[in-house]
Amino acid sequence: MTLDRRAAPAVENSGPAIAVHRLTKRSGERTAFLEVSFEVGSGEVFGVLGPHGAGKTTTVRTLGTLIAPTSGSATIAGVPLAPENEVEIRRRIAIMPESPGLYLRLTVAENLEYFAGLYEAPDPKDRIGRADEHDAHPGDLP
Ligand SMILES: Nc1ncnc2c1ncn2[C@@H]1O[C@H](COP(=O)(O)OP(=O)(O)OP(=O)(O)O)[C@@H](O)[C@H]1O
Ligand SMILES: [Mg+2]
Repeated sequence: MTLDRRAAPAVENSGPAIAVHRLTKRSGERTAFLEVSFEVGSGEVFGVLGPHGAGKTTTVRTLGTLIAPTSGSATIAGVPLAPENEVEIRRRIAIMPESPGLYLRLTVAENLEYFAGLYEAPDPKDRIGRADEHDAHPGDLP
């Protein structure tokens, strides 16, 4: 696989930030979510409410390209959700999951350096410095 090492353009998508059309995730007999459709405008704060097991987290994981939908379609930051677009989508989004996958034996700065490297973020040093003023370990944080 060849990665395009350029940073994603900051704002080039004039349409909705997220557009989801009849998106469905099934696994055997189990349906995680069924024919979900919604749109989120750029800059809009959008919340999803639902009971335990309603499919909220699975929807976010699907839109974040971590798992593939069974049917339906979506566009994230102007990029169609498709296996060949996963890298392009991940470059343009950020997700704060319920259980952040941080390395507790690394410092905050080391974690940020590691993930900046994975995302091939250009010149991340300044941003890392601003985010990590105390050189703490993630386990030290409240
Ligand atoms: N990769 C997957 N493929 C298919 N089904 C899945 C997958 N991951 C989770 N599910 C199923 O999706 C359903 C919805 O779970 P999910 O965790 O998305 O609900 P939730 O709305 O986030 O619940 P909670 O409020 O408890 O966080 C569950 O039945 C779960 O087993
Ligand atoms: Mg959840």
